[in-house]
Amino acid sequence: MIVVIDGPAGSGKSSTAKAVAAQLQIQFLDSGALYRVATLVYLNSDKNYDTFFDLLEESKISFHFKDGKFHAFLNNEEVSDEIRSMEVSEHVSEVASNPDVRKYVNDLMREVVKSDIYIADGRDLGTAVFPDAALKFFMVADLETRAKRRYEEVKTQGKNVTLQEVKANIAQRDATDSNRSSDPLKQADDAILVDTSDMNFDEQVAFISQKIEQLISQQKT
Ligand code: DC
Repeated sequence: MIVVIDGPAGSGKSSTAKAVAAQLQIQFLDSGALYRVATLVYLNSDKNYDTFFDLLEESKISFHFKDGKFHAFLNNEEVSDEIRSMEVSEHVSEVASNPDVRKYVNDLMREVVKSDIYIADGRDLGTAVFPDAALKFFMVADLETRAKRRYEEVKTQGKNVTLQEVKANIAQRDATDSNRSSDPLKQADDAILVDTSDMNFDEQVAFISQKIEQLISQQKT
């Protein structure tokens, strides 16, 4: 079974999905992290698309959810911190807009989720990757709120960035993610809209967990 949360950067979907997964003891899949690992491969190829695709074919991208944290690996080496750098953030939307990269990541995700109950977060999971997902959420919040959340997150990681830089990066990514021709960020018709601008974290987690629990109990009866 797969439950998806799509939404723009900083809407709280990743941290919410992670907390829901830990609470319900299901698996968590951060699709943005996989695009970020692919972006690391792109940076390692000196931003040359030919070399990048050769390198990507030879690479192994893997992940697991353990102790409440999503761990991402490139060729068996953990890159969970590296993929959160500003350099990766600055290039990820461009790399993720490439249809071949999207196919690579989508194939990887579809294969993995066959084996367990997953909650996954991304941009196009409900529309393009998992159109038959058991439950779909679309999480939004205003730009100011999202920038502040992301800024607090990167600050706790000791990174030297300003709120303005984070806000500009999110606004830029919103535009690229929403306007790309290949599977843009878009609410699926059957997704539940969750506006987190005025919700606190516990409320977001409780709202989504309850919907999943309701579905699981309906399926049992
Ligand atoms: O969730 P995130 O901010 O870590 O995602 C990083 C980038 O990956 C985001 O700017 C767009 C891209 N992405 C995507 O195109 N499709 C997804 N399903 C998830 C992320």
